[in-house]
Amino acid sequence: MKNLLSIDDISTPEILNLFKLAQSFRNNDPDTGRFLKKGKTVALIFNEPSTRTVLSFQKAVMNLQGTVLLLNMLTSSAQKGETLEDTLKTVSCYADAIILRQSKMGILKTISVDVPLINAGDGMGEHPTQSLIDLWTIYENKKRLNGLSILFVGDKNSRTVHSLVKLLERFEGNRCVFYEPLEDTIEEKMGEADVVYVTRYQSERCQEKPQIVHIDKTTMRMMRQDAILMHPLPRNEEMSPEVDDDPRSVIFDQVRNGVFIRMAILAKVL
Ligand code: NCD
Repeated sequence: MKNLLSIDDISTPEILNLFKLAQSFRNNDPDTGRFLKKGKTVALIFNEPSTRTVLSFQKAVMNLQGTVLLLNMLTSSAQKGETLEDTLKTVSCYADAIILRQSKMGILKTISVDVPLINAGDGMGEHPTQSLIDLWTIYENKKRLNGLSILFVGDKNSRTVHSLVKLLERFEGNRCVFYEPLEDTIEEKMGEADVVYVTRYQSERCQEKPQIVHIDKTTMRMMRQDAILMHPLPRNEEMSPEVDDDPRSVIFDQVRNGVFIRMAILAKVL
């Protein structure tokens, strides 16, 4: 893996390896010392809002003993008309890897830079690092990656959904179901799922607001006891914070797992 622009850039054996390394980082195994990246510089370039992705990548670089360069595109020369290509060429003179979030789907595939490039969300396209975090969280909780029924509730235009579906389709017997409010009741569908994955309405990208389903303690009563509830965050009206107390909610495990998966990705590409 040189770049991680899409889930297609990483093979299944590489993913399983990544999970092992993330686990070693979390356990602080002495063996992980050889993966430290002292003296390496990682640039983070964001032209869309971010809380978890930007912070967990920064934390990941710090844990690897590398240095972070942070460029906010809202205050960069992009505002003077500089192209993304020139921005990336420039940053690659200062950094050993670039992590980029921007709003044009697929644009990264048309640009080549000399250092590894990681997609931290490209508009309505993909969000491969978040989906690797989500898949690891599923694996840790369900102890398998096949034969799972995954119910997606919320906006299908979410890039985390796009990458996660691609990942899940690689493993045998997984069934990805999209909840259609006009066809079924949420209670019925929740009862059939091993994983319920909720996303917010992507208001910044989509014109038409879908019917919002609200997940709260009452809807969760219909979930199986061994099922898990996930959300990449941020959440809006589709999910009440009261679900956080339920042991089946792994939302903040996803948040915590972000640092270790991103450390593993950086350790591999650098
Ligand atoms: C997601 C994103 O940016 O696509 N957030 C994240 O990185 N965890 C989800 C979203 O914005 O809905």
